[in-house]
Amino acid sequence: MSNPSDELNAPGQPGVSPVWDRPVRLLHWALVLCVAAAWWTGGRTDGWHENLGYAVAAIVALRLAWGFAGSRYARFAQFVRGPRATWAYAHGVWRGTAPRYIGHNPLGGWMVLALLACCATLCLSGWLYTTDWLWGYAWLYWTHFVAGWVLVGLVVLHVAGVAFTSWQHRENLVRAMVTGAKPAAGEADVR
Ligand code: HEM
Ligand code: HEM
Repeated sequence: MSNPSDELNAPGQPGVSPVWDRPVRLLHWALVLCVAAAWWTGGRTDGWHENLGYAVAAIVALRLAWGFAGSRYARFAQFVRGPRATWAYAHGVWRGTAPRYIGHNPLGGWMVLALLACCATLCLSGWLYTTDWLWGYAWLYWTHFVAGWVLVGLVVLHVAGVAFTSWQHRENLVRAMVTGAKPAAGEADVR
């Protein structure tokens, strides 16, 4: 059986760098659909909201596992950087000198963790709220409610970051999350 990292380490087509493997792309767009649907069904009592929330929980769990077992650019160890590197990158963005990253850039890496953590908080608080043990507790309802709005804020920042970085480096990051490939890495790019 072929390992997805073989595909990413292969020379590939000229002019193109394979970046996002198939599980990363499928999980991303499934997460977008399920989070949006969970948001619109929030508070409904016919079971749709809970089931969509469980789908989100499954996607987050799979993505966490893939962050350790996946191909190169799917791994947390590849894209979660320390405070120094993140600060230096943020400074570079501000001055317009930030290098192009082939995988997630340092700010994007932290955003990935924040989005996954916020989804997990929503699923855990929502599920606990449906148990006999914690049903009806106002603090739990508020945790769920506030985490829902925090997620909206994060998604707005996430999409703005994707649009800004696409503009700054003249590349279409959304297309890369669909096809898995980016224009080939150059000398100055961070791989
Ligand atoms: C509910 C809304 C969304 C959530 C929860 C979400 C979550 C995420 C997560 C977790 C990742 C990391 C991918 C990975 O490594 O597995 C990611 C990356 C990405 N997302 Fe989203 N996303 C959302 C909406 C969107 C939308 C609407 C777009 C398109 C406009 C988008 C475009 C991207 C792109 C291009 C990346 C790769 C960023 C990069 O190049 O570093 N996302 N998103
Ligand atoms: C990403 C996942 C989720 C999102 C975005 C989300 C979002 C929301 C939103 C926006 C509301 C309406 C809050 C209000 O205005 O009153 C809500 C309510 C609720 N959610 Fe979720 N939720 C998620 C996951 C879950 C899960 C996994 C469960 C349970 C298994 C759950 C159970 C509930 C319940 C029971 C309510 C109704 C609380 C009440 O009005 O009494 N949610 N959720």
